[in-house]
Order: sequence, then C-alpha cells, then structure tokens
Amino acid sequence: MRQTRSLIVTLIIVLTAWSGTLDKPTSAQEIEVIVGGEIEYQNYCAVCHGADGKGQGIMNKYLTVRPADLTQLAKKNGGTFPFWQTYRAIEGREEIRGHGSRDMPLWGDRFRTQAGGNDSGSRAQAAGRLLGLVFYLQHIQE
Ligand code: HEC
Repeated sequence: MRQTRSLIVTLIIVLTAWSGTLDKPTSAQEIEVIVGGEIEYQNYCAVCHGADGKGQGIMNKYLTVRPADLTQLAKKNGGTFPFWQTYRAIEGREEIRGHGSRDMPLWGDRFRTQAGGNDSGSRAQAAGRLLGLVFYLQHIQE
C-alpha cells in the first residue's frame, strides 16, 4: 500500500516536471534555431550589416543609406526587441524608411523564389528562414 502510494507520488512529480517542459523549448532546440539563423545571416546579411551586425559590412561604401546596426534594435525600441517589426523589415513587404527607395533587399520574395514559387509550401519555407533570422537577431541584442 505504502509502495503504491509512493509510486503514485513519484509519477505525479515526474509528470509535473515533464509537462512543465512541454511549452518551453529545450536550450538545445533554441540553439539549433539560432545557429540556423546565424548561418543565413552570415551568408546573406553580413556583406552589408557586418559579421557582428553592427553595420560595417564590405558593401557599406557602395550604399546610399547606411545599413542599420542590428544589435541595437531592442535598445532603440525601449528595451524590447521588436520581433514582428523586424520580421517585416526583413521580409520586405513594409517600407523601412519612406522615400520610395530601398537599399535593403526584399528577402521574403527572394526566399520564396528560392523555395520554388508562391505556393503555400514555398511561403512556409521562406517564413521559416525569416523567423530563424529574427531569432538570431534577437539573440545578438546588446
Ligand atoms: C545590400 C545591403 C544589405 C543587405 C545584403 C542586407 N541589408 Fe538589411 N538593411 C540595409 C540597409 C541600407 C538598411 C537601412 C534601411 C534602409 O534601407 O533605409 C537595412 C535595414 C535593415 C533592418 C531594419 C533595421 C531597423 O532599424 O529597423 C533589418 C532588420 C535588416 N536590415 C536586416 C537584414 C537581414 C536579416 C539581412 C539578411 C537576410 C539583411 N538585412 C541584408 C542593407 C542591407
């Protein structure tokens, strides 16, 4: 009887601990997403924004608008990382800075084209890559 009771107590403790981890990604999963975003970042963004995100990329001197320092997005937004605003800035459906001209490429279009088109599968694949980039940028905020 006592054994059964302690078994039930143990089971409850284990289940509680397990359910507590359900909505939280383990740190290994987080790292996987961030590293994926970092690889994309170094491939596509570092030429303008710099390997460290501070805006000192090698293409910098050919641009009319200085690339943003991407480590300061949270600080510029009162300490909160502007997650979806950053997503839209990269995705490109939203103008970053009026005036009609944009020195920043439209990554949403580019990623959708690379994925094969404008069907829902390609759109989902492009959205995943954009999200990886945003999670990486969130990770490098100062
Ligand atoms: C050809 C150069 C170039 C490349 C490549 C580039 N950017 Fe940009 N980016 C800019 C410039 C210039 C700006 C400043 C905004 C503007 O165009 O008015 C900017 C702005 C941004 C902003 C908005 C910052 C703010 O203050 O709101 C984000 C976010 C951003 N870039 C992320 C990225 C990411 C992620 C990549 C790679 C997928 C990337 N950029 C690749 C040139 C570039």
